[in-house]
Amino acid sequence: MTPDRFAALWRSLEPIGRDPGSGGYLRYSWSRSDLAAREWFVEEALDRDLEVETDGNGNLWAWWGDPEGGDAVVTGSHLDSVPHGGAYDGPLGVVSGLLAIDLLRERGHGEPRRPIAVAVFTEEEGGRFGVPCLGSRLLTGSLDPAKALRLRDRDGVTLADAMTAADVDPSRLGADPARLQRIGAFVELHVEQGRALVDLDRPVGVASAIWPHGRWRFTLTGEGNHAGTTAMADRHDPMLTFAYLVLAANKEARLADALATVGRVAARPGATNAIAAEVTAWLDARAPEQSTLDGLVAAVVQRVSERAARDGTKVSWTAESLTPVVDFDGGLRDRLAVLLGPAGSPAPVLPTGAGHDAGVLAAHVPTAMLFVRNPSGVSHAPAEWASDVDCAAGVDALTAALADLAFR
Ligand code: GLV
Ligand code: MN
Ligand code: MN
Ligand code: MN
Repeated sequence: MTPDRFAALWRSLEPIGRDPGSGGYLRYSWSRSDLAAREWFVEEALDRDLEVETDGNGNLWAWWGDPEGGDAVVTGSHLDSVPHGGAYDGPLGVVSGLLAIDLLRERGHGEPRRPIAVAVFTEEEGGRFGVPCLGSRLLTGSLDPAKALRLRDRDGVTLADAMTAADVDPSRLGADPARLQRIGAFVELHVEQGRALVDLDRPVGVASAIWPHGRWRFTLTGEGNHAGTTAMADRHDPMLTFAYLVLAANKEARLADALATVGRVAARPGATNAIAAEVTAWLDARAPEQSTLDGLVAAVVQRVSERAARDGTKVSWTAESLTPVVDFDGGLRDRLAVLLGPAGSPAPVLPTGAGHDAGVLAAHVPTAMLFVRNPSGVSHAPAEWASDVDCAAGVDALTAALADLAFR
């Protein structure tokens, strides 16, 4: 595919949900900008004579071939973003799926032997309701729909109400084994979220595994009081405990060769001239091995509990999401690596610490991921970037993968 052709479709989606201030994206599920991005997808799919449907969990599917045919080859990704996220995380896989179908058709491929679909999964980032891969977890039955419906966004709006406001019936949420059974393979193309492909000087790679990871919400409770009249010795300040939580997470992650991030915090009541009464902080932790991850979180909990005892504050925590290690289908991975590299030089195979819908589907369906080089090495931030040339190479790779799976 020519870079210009990639760019033409890409640029039509790019403005939707971009914040002019940060240059990043605010595409939270079921928000106005998410709905606009979904509408963009539906129009592009209909323009291509694909059959479009919304499943009970709000995921979109655009079919080439019979949706009921079975053994389907599905590609796609997500259109939602983290707060002020980059343009490519998610949308690149959706745009590439549509363009791959264009290329397959132009190359004179008639109807595929196996149906092909481009899917858009809802709330992959957990940016609004806190649970990542919401749409794919519901589809696969790994998230209880009753629990999902009660999830609340920052403004207290439940998922049920957000879906209703978007004219989507929330009562159909939940596992969809019949749909899963009709999928024979899933291939998600995604922008790389680190620098491995840059260092290897290769435009496209294949995923081997996703590290186990999770999100924990800590509630640190102290005593709200006057900033000007409360002696330092008399304070029960949860912000101190919070500060220690951040330091402990960083230190323990370094010691364990793992990753820990406290990227979100809310202090109540949030007054400059009052000691906070309560702090809520979210820990994101990831490690190559489950035992390392468990040890890391346990160490953070222990250190912050010790600190809370000194601060006269209370700590409680709850796991908001847990994702065990994902090893992608070895046969599919190796076949795609050989198919996508030049002769004698398979595409690089790499693990990632980032979560994806592909990771959720992998427990049910033979699944693979393709990564496209990201020279910025940045993701979940506005600087995230991939060149049109590399994105076009990604489309070519996805096209080859779909041809191999659906036409052979
Ligand atoms: C989702 O993108 C995640 O890995 O946090
Ligand atoms: Mn993503
Ligand atoms: Mn992401
Ligand atoms: Mn992700």
